Amino acid sequence: MVSILQPFIFLLSLLPLLASGLPSSRHFSALKPAYFLLAGDSTTATQSTNGGGWGDGFLNFTLKPGSSGRNYGHNGATTKSFRDGGDWGRLITEAETKTTNYTVYVTIQFGHNDQKATSGVNLTQYSDNLIAFGREVSAIGAIPIFVTSLTRRKYTNTTPPAIVQDLAVQRNLTVSAAQTTHSRYIDLNIASVDYCNAIGPEAAWKYNLNPTDYTHLDTRGSVVFGRLVSDLLVRRFGDIGAVTRGNGTLSREIREGVAA
Ligand SMILES: *[C@@H]1O[C@H](CO)[C@@H](O)[C@H](O)[C@H]1NC(C)=O
Ligand SMILES: *[C@@H]1O[C@H](CO)[C@@H](O)[C@H](O)[C@H]1NC(C)=O
Ligand SMILES: *[C@@H]1O[C@H](CO)[C@@H](O)[C@H](O)[C@H]1NC(C)=O
Ligand SMILES: *[C@@H]1O[C@H](CO)[C@@H](O)[C@H](O)[C@H]1NC(C)=O
Ligand SMILES: *[C@@H]1O[C@H](CO)[C@@H](O)[C@H](O)[C@H]1NC(C)=O
Repeated sequence: MVSILQPFIFLLSLLPLLASGLPSSRHFSALKPAYFLLAGDSTTATQSTNGGGWGDGFLNFTLKPGSSGRNYGHNGATTKSFRDGGDWGRLITEAETKTTNYTVYVTIQFGHNDQKATSGVNLTQYSDNLIAFGREVSAIGAIPIFVTSLTRRKYTNTTPPAIVQDLAVQRNLTVSAAQTTHSRYIDLNIASVDYCNAIGPEAAWKYNLNPTDYTHLDTRGSVVFGRLVSDLLVRRFGDIGAVTRGNGTLSREIREGVAA
């Protein structure tokens, strides 16, 4: 009996060591639950603020108990208005507080409004603003994760129909911002384009917030694209896998390009 318990007792004796904050404590971040703060426009935002994004589906259904977050997505937001309007400051303040008890991640996804001619944000400024967001997150000991822009569900009149890739420039600048700041990123733009091409317009439009809104997601769309975001994160980052609650059925449908 004693010999069977021996290895177990040895492992127990290591626990205080692990918890004591070794210099390389970031390697043990899986011991802390995760807190996700989502920065973005309406394609991240919750429906209750007139958004229709992936954020709520991600927060509600992909995290293990103990881990959670807050959706700061703001309808109409650009990288400029998100800061000027105070959302960014509030997010950073909360992130600083949460780092005590959580590993804090900040996702950063913009582009849909920045790209409008009337936004007052040109491509240089879009890029500079993203880079500033990434640096400010790192500076407070949280982990920035750039997310390339969720695709709109507009298709060409070809056979078969193909997604109109109208966010490719923003996608590339977001990847560059991640590289410039040595931050993480996931390519939601390409992944959502691929998925919408695979399922076709009829299935993709079932996720529309209303029949003629090809940008925003309804509740089911939020769950599906929230899961896609999670799958992309888990594939690349083991620490996020450790705080994630999987759904094999939904992940397989997305991976295989089946309407979910
Ligand atoms: C997520 O949970 C919030 C808070 O309970 C709720 O308001 C929202 O409708 C939920 N959204 C989804 C997509 O599940
Ligand atoms: C962190 O957790 C401890 C223990 O549960 C709690 O007392 C403290 O208030 C928490 N700190 C913050 C900033 O939430
Ligand atoms: C964007 O605007 C700034 C400030 O007016 C200017 O310096 C910069 O050259 C512009 N960039 C582009 C790509 O137009
Ligand atoms: C984006 O980057 C990819 C890969 O580097 C490149 O092939 C593509 O032409 C770029 N697209 C735009 C619109 O800049
Ligand atoms: C997993 O996804 C499937 C397919 O979308 C759904 O029917 C099921 O309710 C989900 N399971 C859980 C535990 O969320």
